[in-house]
Amino acid sequence: MPIDLARARAETRGCATVAHLNHAGASLMPAPVADAVVDWLREEETTGGYETARRHHDRLENFYDASARLLNCHRDEVAFVENATRAWDMAFYALDLGPGDRILTAECEYGSNMIAYLHRARRDGCEVAVVPSDAHGQLDVAALEGMIDDRTKLISISHIPTGGGLVNPAEAVGAVARRHGIPYLLDACQSVGQMPVDVERIGCDFLSATGRKYLRGPRGTGLLYVRKDWIEGRDIDPPLLDQHAATLLSETEYRMRADARRFENWECYFAGKAALGRAIDYALEWGLEAIRERVTALADGLRAELAAIPGVTVTDLGVERCGIVTFTKDGEKPVDIRDRCIAKGINISASSGSGSRVGFDRRGLESVVRASVHYLNSEAEIERFVEEIRRGG
Ligand SMILES: Cc1ncc(COP(=O)(O)O)c(C=O)c1O
Repeated sequence: MPIDLARARAETRGCATVAHLNHAGASLMPAPVADAVVDWLREEETTGGYETARRHHDRLENFYDASARLLNCHRDEVAFVENATRAWDMAFYALDLGPGDRILTAECEYGSNMIAYLHRARRDGCEVAVVPSDAHGQLDVAALEGMIDDRTKLISISHIPTGGGLVNPAEAVGAVARRHGIPYLLDACQSVGQMPVDVERIGCDFLSATGRKYLRGPRGTGLLYVRKDWIEGRDIDPPLLDQHAATLLSETEYRMRADARRFENWECYFAGKAALGRAIDYALEWGLEAIRERVTALADGLRAELAAIPGVTVTDLGVERCGIVTFTKDGEKPVDIRDRCIAKGINISASSGSGSRVGFDRRGLESVVRASVHYLNSEAEIERFVEEIRRGG
């Protein structure tokens, strides 16, 4: 079923205020999701936080069921974490990596993930190696396979980079990881919510995502998927434990939870957790395939129009592309373009090297303009934006 644009826009209050092309930053929450946050907070204010949580326990639990439907996993394989970075960190820092062990990653790896690799390299003596990209700019799967040896202890990549429209071949990477029995951590922060992401098809062991971007959930929410084998078979040890993640049995003993919630902590953003569950249900109601179809069509159209403007260079790479559209324009800095557009009621962002250091350095890019579309954007909004770029500063 194609997206009913009129309904999508009517259910998004922000559509009346701005042309929002910054869904890779933070999307506009749909009304039912924003209401879920506000109503929860109002109830906390008037009846008490613990009491609200007890009354709406089902809404909190729905987060796990909705996530399981979204990712094609079991509810026990999901943890609620405050953002994608911490979700990713909880898995990454749980892995046993010592001197000589190697992590393989991609050129477009997210900046915070690169910092964490280097942090553990410094602290624990492991090494990180960057797999080169292929002629299309995506991770070269053959090169990845060629780099695997008995020191390789982790394959860890971003599905979609923060600063480009590329979609990495996550499923082909998963096949390599499985073939060699290597753990696979997928940063799916930018992909979850804009396309189907199925952990069984991809074959990842761990996956992190955020609430506020393409899932259209509230800020301060995220999730971690951990494959059951890691909890039941290998008893993976989170870097931090509290009395929600584990039970204190005696003065000398504790027992960790038998599900992915061992990666959570007890106190969290309860309103956000309930609302993220609602946001996931909302995305599933539209259908991730229908969402991908519209997002891809809008982004492809935008790229084509931008590429036809003199002085504009579209900087997206890859065989498969997504809703993130990046470009540079001769004579105008990305931050200036961003500020000019925001002043005209068009929300976009500028993506600097810090989030994409390795990839940008290898390509000689400093920063790019990032316009990220979602299914609720209208063709008229895209036209307005293109006109603004054509006109110049
Ligand atoms: C690829 C990628 N990974 C991770 C993150 C971090 O997500 P969060 O801000 O929710 O921690 C981002 C944010 O832009 C991202 O683009």
